[in-house]
Amino acid sequence: MSQQKRKVYLDYNATTPLHPEVQKAMRAAMKYFGNPSSLHEPGRQARKLIEDARKTIASFINAAPEEIIFVGSGSEANNTVINLFSCAGLRTCEMLSLKTVRKEIITTKIEHPCVLESAACMEEQGTKVSYIGVDKYGKIDMHQLKAALSNATALVSVMMANNEIGTIQDIKEISRIVKKAGAFFHTDAVQAVGKIPIDVRELEVDYLSFSAHKIYGPKGIGALYVRKGVVFCPFIRGGHQEKGRRAGTENTLGIIGLAKAIEMRKIEASEEFKRLVRLKKRLKDGIEKNIPDTKFNGHPTDCLPGTLNVSFSGAEGEAILLYLDMEGIAVSTGSACASGSLDPSHVLIATGIPQEQAHGSIRMSLGRDTTVEDIDYVIEKLRRVIKRVRQISSVSTKAKDG
Ligand SMILES: Cc1ncc(COP(=O)(O)O)c(C=O)c1O
Repeated sequence: MSQQKRKVYLDYNATTPLHPEVQKAMRAAMKYFGNPSSLHEPGRQARKLIEDARKTIASFINAAPEEIIFVGSGSEANNTVINLFSCAGLRTCEMLSLKTVRKEIITTKIEHPCVLESAACMEEQGTKVSYIGVDKYGKIDMHQLKAALSNATALVSVMMANNEIGTIQDIKEISRIVKKAGAFFHTDAVQAVGKIPIDVRELEVDYLSFSAHKIYGPKGIGALYVRKGVVFCPFIRGGHQEKGRRAGTENTLGIIGLAKAIEMRKIEASEEFKRLVRLKKRLKDGIEKNIPDTKFNGHPTDCLPGTLNVSFSGAEGEAILLYLDMEGIAVSTGSACASGSLDPSHVLIATGIPQEQAHGSIRMSLGRDTTVEDIDYVIEKLRRVIKRVRQISSVSTKAKDG
């Protein structure tokens, strides 16, 4: 009798399955089809659902409901903020009431591509952008940050938790430094919301981005916190929705799904946090004990509870991923296949590890459905896969050399 292959999903930082309660809430809301902008009853019903959801979401991060803008994704939230400070955006919205012409942006070398590429686009349009480096654990260099800040700095954008290595930044301290220099502060909290406690008032952030699909909510819906009174300029124009701050008919179902996902986080996150810390330790210990020549990336303690990034010397990350996939295990690599070349992760490179080591890295991200049995299965399969990939890699290196 053939044995059913175990399926182990360890890619929760890429996306998460819909929480059963989220599915239930979204299914129940499907009948509310009205356009939330319409004045008739179906429209008013949809509007009420959205405004109730906004309250739930706002209170979770200690914001006011009117400080939450629904957007299509975490990427859109981040693009919106970075683009606020483009020269064109500033001109269009007559934001030069800022008095000093602050046009420069500071961000870090380890941001998600949606921040880095938006910043690069700003650079092409003439905005000065500085990229702050990180230490070997992925913590940003505060000295570099202080040195880069000036009275020309408009915005500083630093992610709260890194998607590849899980390192959590000291956002309160960073925001204090940024505020002292008179600039606005944005944090990409896509990997942090619902995983670590967040209070926007305590952190004193001006803008904060998040996304539903990282916390067991639906894809295609995100939110941007915009502190009352700070500069804002719509990224998507042509409608009065979201008080004129984001055009486009609202994604009612997605918004309901996001609010339900947040409600479930309130109930489940702290227990899940403790469980994931234990499971991650088991995974890390198992790898250390069974597989030689490994190195763990990211901060040893200031790290997302479910994220483990590990480098295996003499093995290619993509090969490891594919062999694990054949065993029913889903993980990810930081590398990106771009125009035929295999780029190592910009995050790992920023932490100073050699290219070869970055190429041999995989990220395993655990979540609410991960079990002890899953972890033990992964350790056993990983041990065999690494042995196999190292053998193949040494044969092909010898063949190339010879
Ligand atoms: C840190 C971080 N920022 C932004 C994003 C983009 O979010 P979304 O997939 O909702 O566009 C991701 C997604 O992986 C992320 O991990």
